[in-house]
Amino acid sequence: MNSYSRITGTGSYLPPKRLSNGDMVARLAHDGIETSDDWIVERSGISARHFADDGVFCSDLALHACQAALQAAGRSASEVDLIIVATSTPDMVFPSTACILQGKLGAIGGAAFDVQAVCSGFVYALTVADALIKTGSARCALVVGAEIFSRILDFKDRGTCVLFGDGAGAVVLEASDTPGILSTDLHADGRHVDILCVPGHVQGGAASGVPLLKMAGQAVFKLAVGVLEDAARAVLTKAGKAEADIDWLVPHQANIRIIQSTAKKLKLPMDKVMLTVDQHGNTSAASIPLALDAGVRGGRIQKGQTVLLEGVGGGFTWGAVLLTL
Ligand code: UT7
Repeated sequence: MNSYSRITGTGSYLPPKRLSNGDMVARLAHDGIETSDDWIVERSGISARHFADDGVFCSDLALHACQAALQAAGRSASEVDLIIVATSTPDMVFPSTACILQGKLGAIGGAAFDVQAVCSGFVYALTVADALIKTGSARCALVVGAEIFSRILDFKDRGTCVLFGDGAGAVVLEASDTPGILSTDLHADGRHVDILCVPGHVQGGAASGVPLLKMAGQAVFKLAVGVLEDAARAVLTKAGKAEADIDWLVPHQANIRIIQSTAKKLKLPMDKVMLTVDQHGNTSAASIPLALDAGVRGGRIQKGQTVLLEGVGGGFTWGAVLLTL
């Protein structure tokens, strides 16, 4: 048994190809589809996103993020005894992207598996890693969110294709004598499968169904603003903390209006909120660790501060993690 788990290093990676809203306007215009920088910014807060090149896979983005996180933690791959990758865009049907990543890292021998909770994936993965460390099953974990959503976008659907991007973020989570992860809270409501899904599967050697992202944007928006407040209050209560104790909110980066609404409900000024949605778009499970790493490397989020992570997405899933960095 270990008393606590604590983040000892963060890392992230964005593929080099950056597309501005102007680039998306031009790309969609090719198919006679109209959109505009004004609409995208006003409705979502997004100005740009990154897309991976053909031939680059989820595990490749994850590898870069993990190498940066290990370096920040002062750990080598051989010390890692658990890898959890949160992704909805795995390299293959199987094996898990975590196993493929483990091989690329050379971190052989520990447990490795994927978690599938779409945009809530990173808070799910961090919760599982925390539990495995506290029960003594692991001491040094890599917890990763990595996505290539550009592969599942329908570029004929202007209501979704302008919102998402690719990237990866990772943390090293280690057994610790001092508190790191303070409390966690996870939920799902499977009645809402249809409002955000990729309704396809592999059958007889071909894709069956429609393996492209479908989203009922307004329905997702309404559910998201309610459950995020609930999850935030739940982790505060479990940890015996109050809103005023939060130094940083690092939310899933889907839409600036959802983030602003959550911050307002928690009475947090926007200068306590990490924002990357403008430059990254929605990178699903990668968005929280990408934003966390941006805050840490930018010197804004400091060791010893109290950080609230929260995610929401397909499933419908949602959850939060309260931690001391
Ligand atoms: O990551 C998992 C969680 N995901 C989310 O949290 C996403 C939640 N949802 C949202 O962020 C928002 O609902 C969207 C950004 C997806 C959409 O914003 P909205 O304010 O809900 O817009 P809407 O879907 O109601 O569309 C408004 C109008 C429609 O036109 P009409 O019917 O009013 O004439 C759309 O056809 O905007 C039109 N529209 C666009 N116009 C220009 C939709 N997409 C575009 C576009 N460019 N790209």
